[in-house]
Amino acid sequence: MKNVILIGFMGVGKGSVAREVVKHSNYIAIDTDDLIESMENRKIKNIFEQEGEKYFRNIEHNISLWLEKSVKNTLISTGGGFYKVENLKKIGTIVLLDSPFEEIIKRIKAHPNATKKLKKRPLLNDMKKAKKLYNERRPEYLKLADIVVDVTNKSAKECTKEILKKVKK
Ligand code: S3P
Repeated sequence: MKNVILIGFMGVGKGSVAREVVKHSNYIAIDTDDLIESMENRKIKNIFEQEGEKYFRNIEHNISLWLEKSVKNTLISTGGGFYKVENLKKIGTIVLLDSPFEEIIKRIKAHPNATKKLKKRPLLNDMKKAKKLYNERRPEYLKLADIVVDVTNKSAKECTKEILKKVKK
């Protein structure tokens, strides 16, 4: 079993899908944002505020080297900017969770914890900038992806079925 890496924009549902994949397969899951928060013993939001984005990206870079060298048979969910690491292709099969920007924002806002979900993501503070970031990133996500799953109006369970079917092929 090769690693499977979930990439995609903030709020698209990488975490929820990862939890569902674990329920329905033998994959063990790790999340790059969770790793960073535990390594740093502080929230992503605070890392951005206290150290700046460059510092955060450097930790992502270090994690990418560790993943390539030491992690096998694992489902890796990533932060929305993790795809920029140089060795992503070498880590495993890349699965893009894809949805239009407006649908992603709708999805976050429909969540009972919507305010918290928006607050914890520094790059979603300004919707105009977030949309610009989405437009810049989407073609890059598509270029990298081995598998693209359109998650619009699909449950995490439906996305999981699709992913597991496609990674087996
Ligand atoms: C980021 C996405 C976040 C987190 C950080 C930066 C990004 O993860 O890594 O706030 O650059 O898109 P999620 O995609 O889980 O929100």
